[in-house]
Amino acid sequence: MRMYDIIKKKRDGGELTTEEIKFFIEGVTDGSIPDYQITALLMAIYYRGMNVRETCDLTFAVRDSGERLDFSAIDGIRVDKHSTGGVGDKTSLVVAPIVASFGVKVAKMSGRGLGHTGGTVDKLEAIDGFRTTLSEEEFIAQVNKIGLSIVGQSRQFAPADKKLYALRDVTATVDSMPLIAASIMGKKLAADDDCIVLDVKTGSGSFMKTAEKSKELARLMVDIGKNAGKKMVALITNMDRPLGNAIGNSLEVIEAVETLKGRGPADLTEVCLTLAAYMLSLAGKGTPEECRKLAEQSVADGSALEKLIQTVKAQGGNAALIEDTENFAKAKYSHAVKSVKRGYIVRADTEAYGLASLTLGAGRNTAEDPIDYSAGILLRKKTGDLVSEGEEIATLFSNDPASFAAAEEKLLAATVIEAEKPADEPLVYDVIE
Ligand code: URA
Repeated sequence: MRMYDIIKKKRDGGELTTEEIKFFIEGVTDGSIPDYQITALLMAIYYRGMNVRETCDLTFAVRDSGERLDFSAIDGIRVDKHSTGGVGDKTSLVVAPIVASFGVKVAKMSGRGLGHTGGTVDKLEAIDGFRTTLSEEEFIAQVNKIGLSIVGQSRQFAPADKKLYALRDVTATVDSMPLIAASIMGKKLAADDDCIVLDVKTGSGSFMKTAEKSKELARLMVDIGKNAGKKMVALITNMDRPLGNAIGNSLEVIEAVETLKGRGPADLTEVCLTLAAYMLSLAGKGTPEECRKLAEQSVADGSALEKLIQTVKAQGGNAALIEDTENFAKAKYSHAVKSVKRGYIVRADTEAYGLASLTLGAGRNTAEDPIDYSAGILLRKKTGDLVSEGEEIATLFSNDPASFAAAEEKLLAATVIEAEKPADEPLVYDVIE
């Protein structure tokens, strides 16, 4: 087989065989295909696309390019949730304990934040002592004992994706539907879950800017997961505004705990209960409507919060922070961002909000950057709210007061205020089953 022929076939609109796709991914992984041929094929795929069969083959080849986890030692149904990334998205910290409080197993591998999006692992590390690296034996034993563990990805899953993503990033081939689907699902399928709920974000804070594109991606990923023998559901959720009011690591943990105490912001609570309902339903606990009631009940009776406390203790974290979030270390400095005029917030550029939080020290530009866990933003007003001139729309927190001016400028530029109240947008656009 020759890479030249594979590139030519796709360039001319042909359908690649399973063997050709395997040959390509094996060559990417072992370094035998040069970058110029890899990127030529990526560009051909970008223009010509792939059908569902080709995309499945690509995904499975990416999954098989590295290690795979074996969760067969976990007793019971294993459910995971995967979000395509957003700003203020702390749903994992809320839904995983809700679902685990019903005996459904959640063995969760999460990522770190990069650029404008946050990552669950960074949020958990804002809890003093919390270990996000466990041995596989510890991880599985904890899931069997208390039903839940969340760790970072310590092993080399889907190394072909790492190489492909780096090349896509510099050749303008990131936003290709089959390449995105194979990248996300190739990594996801390297874990060993029975059921997966995908939270596909749409809007200014996500990498799919329209609901139509997000739906298309969701449908494709659901089909791939089903082809791999998984039970799948995808929700299309709104990322045209940050989720909840907190952006930044410890601020988001505090908001997640408040949500588990039944006092969270309405939008975050709604998305979390919906995600938890579909996770429980896939795990066989009833219809989504029945499971929604179960999820509400586990928040109301405190069993979900108790599950988070058990998890924090099991992974070495200081549970006193969860029991009373006043114990979290606070940023030394805060700064009020005030509206320059009266009117309704009609639009917010969510990605810019994420970048403002990064400026304050809450995120990282490169994978090696350190993080200020107490830095971030608390939104006092969001899209649809009426604001007066001089009214506080957000509070910034940082240990570096010199960062406030740039973050404030970003936030104000990203917030559009007009006289007319905007129409309400749905939080959950669609459910793909
Ligand atoms: N996230 C991924 O992991 N891969 C993509 O291609 C896009 C988003």
